[in-house]
Amino acid sequence: KRKVIIDCDPGIDDSLAIMLALSCEEIEVVGITIVCGNAPVEMGFENAKKVLKHMNRLDIPIYIGADKPLSKTYINALDTHGADGLGESFLDNVEGYRQDDDAITFLSKTLQKDICSVIAIGPLTNLALLIKTNEEAFNHIDQLVSMGGNYRSHGNCSPVAEYNYWEDPDAAAIVYEQMRKIHKQIHMVGLDVTRKIVLTPNLLAYLERLDSVHGSFIRKITDFYFTFHWEWEHIIGCVINDPLAVAYFLKPELCSGITASLEIATDGIARGQSIVDAYDFYKKEANAVVLNQVDVEGFFTLFYSKLLNKAPQ
Ligand code: BDR
Ligand code: CA
Repeated sequence: KRKVIIDCDPGIDDSLAIMLALSCEEIEVVGITIVCGNAPVEMGFENAKKVLKHMNRLDIPIYIGADKPLSKTYINALDTHGADGLGESFLDNVEGYRQDDDAITFLSKTLQKDICSVIAIGPLTNLALLIKTNEEAFNHIDQLVSMGGNYRSHGNCSPVAEYNYWEDPDAAAIVYEQMRKIHKQIHMVGLDVTRKIVLTPNLLAYLERLDSVHGSFIRKITDFYFTFHWEWEHIIGCVINDPLAVAYFLKPELCSGITASLEIATDGIARGQSIVDAYDFYKKEANAVVLNQVDVEGFFTLFYSKLLNKAPQ
Protein backbone atom coordinates (compact mmCIF):
# COMPACT_ATOMS: atom_id res chain seq x y z
CA LYS A 1 0.00 0.00 0.00
CA ARG A 2 1.23 3.48 -0.79
CA LYS A 3 1.02 5.83 2.15
CA VAL A 4 -0.45 9.22 1.48
CA ILE A 5 -1.38 12.42 3.26
CA ILE A 6 -4.25 14.43 1.81
CA ASP A 7 -3.74 18.16 2.27
CA CYS A 8 -7.07 19.81 1.59
CA ASP A 9 -9.64 22.55 2.14
CA PRO A 10 -13.01 20.75 2.16
CA GLY A 11 -14.83 21.89 0.10
CA ILE A 12 -17.27 19.88 -1.99
CA ASP A 13 -14.84 18.37 -4.48
CA ASP A 14 -12.22 17.85 -1.76
CA SER A 15 -14.80 15.70 0.00
CA LEU A 16 -15.27 13.59 -3.12
CA ALA A 17 -11.48 13.22 -3.36
CA ILE A 18 -11.30 12.00 0.24
CA MET A 19 -14.13 9.54 -0.43
CA LEU A 20 -12.28 8.17 -3.45
CA ALA A 21 -8.96 7.86 -1.61
CA LEU A 22 -10.63 5.99 1.25
CA SER A 23 -12.22 3.59 -1.21
CA CYS A 24 -8.90 2.53 -2.76
CA GLU A 25 -7.30 -0.50 -1.19
CA GLU A 26 -4.00 0.41 -2.90
CA ILE A 27 -3.71 3.59 -0.79
CA GLU A 28 -3.31 4.08 2.94
CA VAL A 29 -4.43 7.54 4.00
CA VAL A 30 -2.24 8.15 7.06
CA GLY A 31 -3.71 11.54 7.81
CA ILE A 32 -5.61 14.50 6.49
CA THR A 33 -4.25 18.00 6.89
CA ILE A 34 -6.44 21.05 6.54
CA VAL A 35 -5.52 24.37 5.04
CA CYS A 36 -7.66 27.47 4.74
CA GLY A 37 -9.03 27.79 1.24
CA ASN A 38 -12.55 27.10 0.11
CA ALA A 39 -13.55 27.28 3.76
CA PRO A 40 -11.86 28.78 6.84
CA VAL A 41 -9.62 26.15 8.40
CA GLU A 42 -11.89 25.30 11.35
CA MET A 43 -14.84 24.82 8.99
CA GLY A 44 -12.68 22.67 6.71
CA PHE A 45 -11.81 20.56 9.75
CA GLU A 46 -15.50 20.09 10.61
CA ASN A 47 -16.24 19.13 7.03
CA ALA A 48 -13.43 16.58 6.86
CA LYS A 49 -14.88 14.96 9.98
CA LYS A 50 -18.32 14.80 8.35
CA VAL A 51 -16.81 13.01 5.36
CA LEU A 52 -14.89 10.57 7.55
CA LYS A 53 -18.04 9.89 9.51
CA HIS A 54 -19.93 9.14 6.31
CA MET A 55 -17.12 6.79 5.25
CA ASN A 56 -17.06 5.23 8.71
CA ARG A 57 -13.35 6.12 8.98
CA LEU A 58 -13.11 8.40 11.98
CA ASP A 59 -9.96 6.45 12.88
CA ILE A 60 -8.04 8.62 10.40
CA PRO A 61 -6.46 11.65 12.08
CA ILE A 62 -7.19 15.15 10.81
CA TYR A 63 -4.79 18.00 11.60
CA ILE A 64 -5.48 21.69 11.41
CA GLY A 65 -3.00 23.79 9.44
CA ALA A 66 -2.68 27.36 8.20
CA ASP A 67 -5.57 29.73 8.86
CA LYS A 68 -4.35 32.32 6.37
CA PRO A 69 -2.13 32.56 3.30
CA LEU A 70 1.56 33.43 3.82
CA SER A 71 1.16 37.11 3.07
CA LYS A 72 -2.03 37.74 1.10
CA THR A 73 -5.38 38.49 2.70
CA TYR A 74 -7.45 35.34 3.08
CA ILE A 75 -10.41 35.08 0.68
CA ASN A 76 -12.62 32.03 1.03
CA ALA A 77 -14.62 30.35 -1.75
CA LEU A 78 -17.89 29.90 0.13
CA ASP A 79 -19.67 31.49 -2.82
CA THR A 80 -18.77 28.32 -4.74
CA HIS A 81 -18.99 25.77 -1.90
CA GLY A 82 -21.91 27.14 0.14
CA ALA A 83 -22.11 28.83 3.53
CA ASP A 84 -21.00 25.65 5.34
CA GLY A 85 -18.34 24.81 2.73
CA LEU A 86 -20.21 21.62 1.98
CA GLY A 87 -22.89 22.77 -0.41
CA GLU A 88 -25.22 24.00 2.34
CA SER A 89 -25.96 20.42 3.29
CA PHE A 90 -25.69 21.57 6.92
CA LEU A 91 -24.81 18.10 8.16
CA ASP A 92 -24.35 17.76 11.90
CA ASN A 93 -20.89 18.44 13.29
CA VAL A 94 -18.99 15.46 14.66
CA GLU A 95 -18.05 16.13 18.27
CA GLY A 96 -15.17 15.02 20.44
CA TYR A 97 -12.35 14.56 18.00
CA ARG A 98 -9.23 16.68 17.93
CA GLN A 99 -5.52 16.00 17.50
CA ASP A 100 -2.80 17.46 19.69
CA ASP A 101 -0.45 18.18 16.82
CA ASP A 102 -1.02 20.80 14.16
CA ALA A 103 -0.77 19.97 10.45
CA ILE A 104 2.81 21.19 10.01
CA THR A 105 4.07 19.14 12.97
CA PHE A 106 2.25 16.06 11.67
CA LEU A 107 3.63 16.52 8.13
CA SER A 108 7.08 17.06 9.56
CA LYS A 109 7.09 13.96 11.77
CA THR A 110 5.43 11.65 9.25
CA LEU A 111 7.40 12.62 6.17
CA GLN A 112 10.65 12.38 8.09
CA LYS A 113 10.10 8.80 9.13
CA ASP A 114 7.93 7.22 6.42
CA ILE A 115 7.94 6.87 2.66
CA CYS A 116 4.83 8.87 2.06
CA SER A 117 3.29 10.91 -0.74
CA VAL A 118 1.20 14.05 -0.53
CA ILE A 119 -1.89 14.80 -2.57
CA ALA A 120 -2.46 18.53 -2.15
CA ILE A 121 -5.90 19.67 -3.25
CA GLY A 122 -6.01 23.08 -1.62
CA PRO A 123 -3.73 26.12 -1.52
CA LEU A 124 -0.09 25.14 -0.84
CA THR A 125 0.28 27.13 2.40
CA ASN A 126 0.81 24.11 4.67
CA LEU A 127 3.53 22.74 2.41
CA ALA A 128 5.30 26.11 2.18
CA LEU A 129 5.24 26.34 5.98
CA LEU A 130 6.69 22.84 6.13
CA ILE A 131 9.56 23.93 3.88
CA LYS A 132 10.22 26.87 6.20
CA THR A 133 10.20 24.72 9.35
CA ASN A 134 11.57 21.36 8.19
CA GLU A 135 12.92 21.43 4.67
CA GLU A 136 14.32 17.93 5.00
CA ALA A 137 10.91 16.45 5.73
CA PHE A 138 9.43 18.18 2.70
CA ASN A 139 12.29 16.92 0.52
CA HIS A 140 11.43 13.43 1.62
CA ILE A 141 7.94 13.47 0.05
CA ASP A 142 7.71 10.44 -2.19
CA GLN A 143 5.38 11.88 -4.82
CA LEU A 144 3.72 15.28 -4.71
CA VAL A 145 0.50 15.68 -6.67
CA SER A 146 -1.10 19.11 -6.64
CA MET A 147 -4.51 20.02 -7.93
CA GLY A 148 -3.94 23.58 -8.98
CA GLY A 149 -2.85 25.85 -11.76
CA ASN A 150 -3.64 25.86 -15.44
CA TYR A 151 -1.54 25.68 -18.57
CA ARG A 152 -3.56 26.40 -21.70
CA SER A 153 -6.90 26.55 -19.98
CA HIS A 154 -8.62 29.71 -18.72
CA GLY A 155 -8.34 30.48 -15.01
CA ASN A 156 -11.23 30.27 -12.59
CA CYS A 157 -10.24 33.17 -10.33
CA SER A 158 -8.87 35.48 -12.96
CA PRO A 159 -8.38 35.09 -16.70
CA VAL A 160 -5.04 33.42 -15.98
CA ALA A 161 -5.18 31.91 -12.49
CA GLU A 162 -6.70 28.94 -10.75
CA TYR A 163 -8.05 29.26 -7.20
CA ASN A 164 -5.55 27.17 -5.19
CA TYR A 165 -2.52 29.00 -6.60
CA TRP A 166 -4.25 32.35 -6.75
CA GLU A 167 -5.28 32.11 -3.09
CA ASP A 168 -1.71 31.73 -1.87
CA PRO A 169 0.66 32.37 -4.79
CA ASP A 170 3.61 32.96 -2.45
CA ALA A 171 3.22 29.47 -1.01
CA ALA A 172 2.85 27.90 -4.45
CA ALA A 173 6.00 29.71 -5.63
CA ILE A 174 7.97 28.44 -2.63
CA VAL A 175 6.85 24.86 -3.20
CA TYR A 176 7.65 24.88 -6.93
CA GLU A 177 11.07 26.47 -6.36
CA GLN A 178 11.90 23.94 -3.67
CA MET A 179 11.06 21.12 -6.05
CA ARG A 180 13.43 22.58 -8.60
CA LYS A 181 16.12 22.87 -5.95
CA ILE A 182 15.87 19.18 -5.09
CA HIS A 183 15.54 18.08 -8.74
CA LYS A 184 12.04 16.73 -8.34
CA GLN A 185 8.77 17.42 -10.10
CA ILE A 186 5.32 18.26 -8.88
CA HIS A 187 2.57 16.46 -10.72
CA MET A 188 0.26 19.33 -11.55
CA VAL A 189 -3.32 18.26 -12.05
CA GLY A 190 -4.62 21.63 -13.21
CA LEU A 191 -7.73 23.03 -14.81
CA ASP A 192 -6.71 21.76 -18.27
CA VAL A 193 -7.64 18.29 -17.11
CA THR A 194 -9.94 18.80 -14.14
CA ARG A 195 -12.43 20.99 -15.98
CA LYS A 196 -13.21 17.99 -18.16
CA ILE A 197 -14.43 16.06 -15.13
CA VAL A 198 -18.08 17.07 -14.98
CA LEU A 199 -20.46 15.24 -12.71
CA THR A 200 -23.70 15.37 -14.70
CA PRO A 201 -27.24 14.81 -13.39
CA ASN A 202 -27.25 11.50 -15.25
CA LEU A 203 -24.05 10.29 -13.63
CA LEU A 204 -25.36 11.28 -10.23
CA ALA A 205 -28.72 9.56 -10.82
CA TYR A 206 -26.83 6.45 -11.89
CA LEU A 207 -24.82 6.50 -8.68
CA GLU A 208 -27.96 6.87 -6.59
CA ARG A 209 -29.44 3.82 -8.28
CA LEU A 210 -26.32 1.79 -7.65
CA ASP A 211 -25.63 2.92 -4.10
CA SER A 212 -28.23 4.99 -2.32
CA VAL A 213 -25.99 5.72 0.68
CA HIS A 214 -23.12 7.31 -1.27
CA GLY A 215 -25.60 8.60 -3.83
CA SER A 216 -27.72 10.57 -1.39
CA PHE A 217 -24.63 11.91 0.44
CA ILE A 218 -23.13 13.14 -2.82
CA ARG A 219 -26.43 14.64 -3.91
CA LYS A 220 -26.72 16.54 -0.62
CA ILE A 221 -23.28 18.08 -0.94
CA THR A 222 -23.36 18.76 -4.70
CA ASP A 223 -26.83 20.23 -5.14
CA PHE A 224 -25.57 23.76 -4.44
CA TYR A 225 -22.59 23.14 -6.74
CA PHE A 226 -24.91 22.20 -9.60
CA THR A 227 -26.81 25.48 -9.17
CA PHE A 228 -23.55 27.42 -8.91
CA HIS A 229 -22.27 25.97 -12.18
CA TRP A 230 -25.50 26.75 -13.97
CA GLU A 231 -25.56 30.34 -12.74
CA TRP A 232 -21.85 30.93 -13.29
CA GLU A 233 -21.26 29.33 -16.67
CA HIS A 234 -24.43 27.56 -17.83
CA ILE A 235 -23.08 24.08 -17.30
CA ILE A 236 -25.61 21.36 -16.48
CA GLY A 237 -23.53 19.50 -13.93
CA CYS A 238 -20.57 20.38 -11.77
CA VAL A 239 -16.83 20.30 -12.32
CA ILE A 240 -15.22 18.08 -9.69
CA ASN A 241 -11.55 18.98 -9.76
CA ASP A 242 -9.99 17.34 -6.73
CA PRO A 243 -10.87 13.63 -7.14
CA LEU A 244 -8.87 13.59 -10.38
CA ALA A 245 -5.69 14.23 -8.35
CA VAL A 246 -6.40 11.07 -6.33
CA ALA A 247 -7.35 9.08 -9.43
CA TYR A 248 -4.14 10.17 -11.17
CA PHE A 249 -2.08 9.18 -8.14
CA LEU A 250 -3.65 5.76 -8.28
CA LYS A 251 -3.64 5.36 -12.04
CA PRO A 252 -1.21 7.76 -13.75
CA GLU A 253 -2.16 6.49 -17.20
CA LEU A 254 -5.44 8.40 -16.85
CA CYS A 255 -3.56 11.62 -17.63
CA SER A 256 -0.63 12.63 -19.78
CA GLY A 257 1.24 15.87 -20.16
CA ILE A 258 4.56 17.60 -20.46
CA THR A 259 7.57 17.90 -18.19
CA ALA A 260 8.64 21.52 -17.92
CA SER A 261 9.84 24.36 -15.78
CA LEU A 262 6.99 26.14 -14.07
CA GLU A 263 6.95 29.41 -12.18
CA ILE A 264 4.19 31.06 -10.22
CA ALA A 265 3.44 34.75 -10.61
CA THR A 266 2.96 36.10 -7.11
CA ASP A 267 1.57 39.58 -7.72
CA GLY A 268 -0.15 41.96 -10.07
CA ILE A 269 -2.45 41.14 -12.94
CA ALA A 270 -1.07 37.60 -13.29
CA ARG A 271 -1.27 36.77 -9.57
CA GLY A 272 -1.34 33.00 -9.12
CA GLN A 273 -0.70 32.14 -12.75
CA SER A 274 1.25 28.95 -13.31
CA ILE A 275 3.61 29.95 -16.09
CA VAL A 276 4.68 26.81 -17.93
CA ASP A 277 7.85 27.17 -19.99
CA ALA A 278 6.89 24.48 -22.49
CA TYR A 279 9.47 25.66 -25.05
CA ASP A 280 12.29 26.06 -22.53
CA PHE A 281 12.86 29.77 -23.07
CA TYR A 282 14.28 30.26 -19.59
CA LYS A 283 16.55 27.21 -19.59
CA LYS A 284 15.55 26.25 -16.08
CA GLU A 285 15.42 22.74 -14.74
CA ALA A 286 11.98 21.12 -14.99
CA ASN A 287 10.09 21.15 -11.71
CA ALA A 288 6.69 20.02 -12.96
CA VAL A 289 4.84 17.38 -14.85
CA VAL A 290 1.94 19.38 -16.25
CA LEU A 291 -0.99 17.15 -17.12
CA ASN A 292 -3.04 18.32 -20.08
CA GLN A 293 -4.81 15.22 -21.40
CA VAL A 294 -7.28 13.09 -19.47
CA ASP A 295 -9.28 9.96 -20.08
CA VAL A 296 -12.62 11.20 -18.71
CA GLU A 297 -14.45 7.91 -19.09
CA GLY A 298 -11.53 6.14 -17.43
CA PHE A 299 -11.81 8.54 -14.51
CA PHE A 300 -15.51 7.92 -13.97
CA THR A 301 -15.08 4.17 -14.36
CA LEU A 302 -12.42 4.26 -11.65
CA PHE A 303 -14.39 6.63 -9.40
CA TYR A 304 -17.56 4.56 -9.56
CA SER A 305 -15.92 1.17 -9.35
CA LYS A 306 -13.86 2.17 -6.30
CA LEU A 307 -16.71 3.90 -4.56
CA LEU A 308 -19.11 1.08 -5.22
CA ASN A 309 -16.45 -1.55 -4.80
CA LYS A 310 -17.59 -3.13 -8.01
CA ALA A 311 -17.32 -2.41 -11.71
CA PRO A 312 -20.14 -0.20 -13.04
CA GLN A 313 -22.84 -2.24 -14.81
C1 BDR B 1 -9.82 24.15 -6.76
O1 BDR B 1 -10.33 25.24 -6.00
C2 BDR B 1 -11.29 24.76 -5.08
O2 BDR B 1 -12.46 25.52 -5.14
C3 BDR B 1 -11.53 23.32 -5.38
O3 BDR B 1 -11.73 22.61 -4.18
C4 BDR B 1 -10.29 22.87 -6.11
O4 BDR B 1 -9.31 22.40 -5.23
C5 BDR B 1 -10.22 24.32 -8.20
O5 BDR B 1 -9.77 25.53 -8.69
CA1 CA C 1 -9.79 21.91 -2.94
